[in-house]
Parts: sequence; C-alpha cells; structure tokens
Amino acid sequence: MVVGLGPGEARQLTPRAVRAIEEAQVVVGYKTYLAFIRELIKGKEIISSGMRKEVDRARIALMKAAAGQAVAVVSSGDPGVYGMAGIILELAGDRVAVEVIPGVTAATSAAAVLGAPLMHDFAVISLSDLLTPWETIAKRLEAAADSDFVVVIYNPQSQGRRKQIAAARDILLKYRSQDTPVGIVQNAGRPEEKKRITTLAAMLDEEINMQSTVIVGNSQTKIRHGHMITPRGYVL
Ligand SMILES: C[S@@+](CC[C@H](N)C(=O)[O-])C[C@H]1O[C@@H](n2cnc3c(N)ncnc32)[C@H](O)[C@@H]1O
Repeated sequence: MVVGLGPGEARQLTPRAVRAIEEAQVVVGYKTYLAFIRELIKGKEIISSGMRKEVDRARIALMKAAAGQAVAVVSSGDPGVYGMAGIILELAGDRVAVEVIPGVTAATSAAAVLGAPLMHDFAVISLSDLLTPWETIAKRLEAAADSDFVVVIYNPQSQGRRKQIAAARDILLKYRSQDTPVGIVQNAGRPEEKKRITTLAAMLDEEINMQSTVIVGNSQTKIRHGHMITPRGYVL
C-alpha cells in the first residue's frame, strides 16, 4: 500500500490511511514524515531513509511485499502528487498488488489556511528541476499564467535552489498585475504553521522554503478580511 499522510500532524490523516498503517507489518518512509506518525507505528518494522532515496525505498518495500509482508509506504500529502505512488506502481509491475490511499495534498491544505483561493481553475507546478528541465517548468508557468489559472507552486525553493522562484515570479508578472494576491503557507497542518498574504510584486521579500506552498491568485482573486478568495462567479 502507498499511503498519503496529509500535510503533517497525525490528526490530518484520513481514517482509511490510519487503518492501512495499523494493518501494516512494515512501514517505509522518509524519516521526517515517520516522526509525524510515531505513535501509530510503534512496534512495527520501520525502514526509513533520507530525501532523494525514493527509488531505494520503493525497491525495499516491494521486496518485503513480494515476500508476503503487509507493507505501507508512507508519503506526505497525497502519494500520487509528487509522491511515492508513481515509482511504486512503475516498479511493481504485476508482481505485487498495490493499493494507493489518498491524502490531503499541500495545495488544498495551504488553500484552507489562506481562505478559498482555489475556487476556480488552478494549475499545480513544481519548481524542482532535479527531474524536470527548467525549460519545461518555465513553459508550463507561461501557459498557466497566460490562461489566468490560479497557480499553486510546490517545491518553491531550497538551500541550493533559489533562482527558480524569482524566475517564476517574473514569468507570472508578464501576464498579471503587480497587486495580484499571493499566499505563502509554511508547514501547513503542523504546529509551526505560518501564513502570509502578499502580492506578486512583494512576494520575494517573504521567507519561502521547501516547507512552503505558494498560491498565486488569478485576475479575479481578492483579499477580504484577511482571507484570500478567488470568486467562482456567483452574483452575491
Ligand atoms: C515533493 S512535494 C510532496 C507533495 C506531497 N506529496 C503532497 O501531496 O502534498 C514537497 C512539496 O510539497 C509542499 N508541501 C508539503 N507539505 C507541506 C506543508 N505541510 N505545508 C506547506 N507545503 C507543503 C512544499 O511545496 C514541498 O516543497
């Protein structure tokens, strides 16, 4: 099973995800995320590894599952959104039956913290160019910006990768006004959760890191009483 943990604390898990983890004999995951579910996984065999070890984790999990053990591979948010589900399904072939259990992804957990910015069409774009060439990312940003999608940015910035968020902002500014609302949520659903609402012109003045999701409004998005809202179009 590939199980989505939601954005952070254990209370954000769906009941189905909790049951899947309870039923597992072996739990495989990135060590930061295993810490969020430490109570649930007590007494189980735990296989943890650091970031960028996704393929290793998938291979070990499939080996254990093929040997007849009940294995849960845990992934933050939703496992099918930049998570472990794809790798597991690609490697599993028809050797092992795989069930994908969804979780609350960062786009919707961050949106809930900000208000209701995703009430209309939106595009989700990761700025990580480890596996995707920057030209492809830039092309997708252009297309989403030109089409007036609300844009949700995952993996906005890391220690070694700071230029992409500035480049993304510049692309968006070609199509959107400087005052376009931008919401930045760090650690959604965790005790250290932090939100800021700013503008496209000023967004780079805010702290943005790998625990952040950035939501850039469309031409209709507004701020009301501290909430970021993209109108659906109702006459109110
Ligand atoms: C590799 S992606 C994993 C996404 C995950 N599978 C999901 O569905 O949320 C990692 C990125 O997700 C976003 N993210 C994950 N958890 C978050 C949280 N609790 N608060 C804000 N952003 C988060 C950040 O943009 C982070 O850089």
